[in-house]
This record gives sequence, structure tokens and C-alpha cells, in this order.
Amino acid sequence: MEVIIRPDSHAASVLAARLISNQIISKPSSVLGLATGGTMERVYEELVKLHNNEELDFSLVSTFNLDEYVGLAPDDPGSYRHYMNEQLFNHINIDLKNTYLPNGLAKNLKNECLRYEQKIVECGGIDLQLLGIGKSGHIGFNEPLSALQSRTRAKALTPTTIAQNAPLFPTPEDMPRRGITMGVGTILDSKSCLLLATGESKANILAKAVEGPVSSMISASALQLHPMCHVIVDEDAATELTQQEYYRWIFDNEPDWAQFK
Ligand code: GLP
Repeated sequence: MEVIIRPDSHAASVLAARLISNQIISKPSSVLGLATGGTMERVYEELVKLHNNEELDFSLVSTFNLDEYVGLAPDDPGSYRHYMNEQLFNHINIDLKNTYLPNGLAKNLKNECLRYEQKIVECGGIDLQLLGIGKSGHIGFNEPLSALQSRTRAKALTPTTIAQNAPLFPTPEDMPRRGITMGVGTILDSKSCLLLATGESKANILAKAVEGPVSSMISASALQLHPMCHVIVDEDAATELTQQEYYRWIFDNEPDWAQFK
């Protein structure tokens, strides 16, 4: 795991977008794992800029989102499909046929979860998985006690997650209580992972995930097991990390990071 601290959320999002862009440039047919949430809006804004200003080409890219709400249609404004179309897909040259999210309306959720796992494998696996962190410590919707080897499945959402996400719905009580999410094991199968956390509200849970013990109580801590995981944070989200000086030294001195300064 490598932690990179950037001065503010803008700089953190720009760096995340540039790592994604480098992935696409080095492999135009990359399979990206994508995330939703307020944190990612800035990353997608940067990717759209890279597409418009630097001709970043998404025509061969495929994407798999981490999760979707159970019971919401793709055109429901609260759905993650709607979010992705609005924030990213409608503004770049991606083929919508190559953008996958779990189907929240599937009659048989178990079959839908299996189908999703199979589709990821058919596409050759995820090259780069983008991740946010929820206040419950979740990645995707892997709420506390999600098995570290879990696969895509339907998961009940915790009160913490409901409190965090309900205000995003026109009628907060309408927020679904379950989501279909890639499992922690599915995420760990990705070839590389990129966790982005910004703002002081994430400082405590981020420190637990990065520097605390690996525990199914904080599913993001499982990323410590991944051999290729970058964690990008802004100053506000970094405040509770104990090894900040070390992380800063690496970014300032390791040759791999020179191109990003
Ligand atoms: C949702 C998503 C998570 C995401 C989280 C963070 O719960 N399922 O994948 O990490 O939101 O949201 P925000 O960036 O708004 O804090």
C-alpha cells in the first residue's frame, strides 16, 4: 500500500484522474472498476477534461461499477447507473454497451451476482479498481463483517451508510436498504486498486483502514492485502495518519512520482 498526500481535494482528484488516464494510455482496452459518491464526482470531472483537452480515448475501455441499489431502475435518479451516465459516460466516447453495473431490478439476485462475476472474468478481469471509502469503512457496499473473501452479492446497508447516503435522495426515506456489491474478494482480484479519500469526515476511518489491523469490521482495511494499492488523500483526510512524514518522503523522492509533480 502506498499513501500519497496531496494539498487539497482538487489536487488529490487530479492525481487520481491522471493515474486512471495513464492506465488507459498504456492499455487502451483497459477494464476499469468504477465507484460512485461525492468524492468521485471531481475525478470524473477531471477525466472528462482529459478527454476533451488531451483526447483521452475511452472507445475500447470497459467498466464495471462496484455496486448498485437493489430495487432501483437504471433511469431512477438515485441509481448508480444514472449517476455514472450523468457524471461520466455521457461526456466521453465510451461505448455504453461496455459499461456494466449490477442490475438492481433482477428478479433472482443470486443469479445476477453470479452473472456479474462471470462477466468480469470474461472481460479479462479488472485492471484498475477505483474506490472511495464510506463512513462505515466500506468499499463498495461491503459493510462491517463482510468476509474478506466475499464475492458479488446483495448486502443490507448499515444505519451509518443510510445516514450518509439518504440525503442524496429526493425523499430520503426512499433510499433502498440493500445494495448489490462486488465482494471484498472480487475487489482484491483487481490487478491494481486506487482508494481516494478527501475531507476531514474521512480522517478517522481512513486511518483505521490504512494503519489499523486488517479486519472485516472495516472492509477497506483488506486493501492492505493487495500487492498494488495506492491510497490518495488530501491534507484533511490525512490528519489522523501517524506516518505522514514517511508517506510524504516517498512521494517527494521516489522517481515514479516525479512525472506527477
Ligand atoms: C457509497 C458507495 C461507496 C463510496 C461511498 C463514499 O456508499 N457505495 O462505494 O465509497 O459512497 O461516498 P462519498 O464519496 O460521497 O463520501
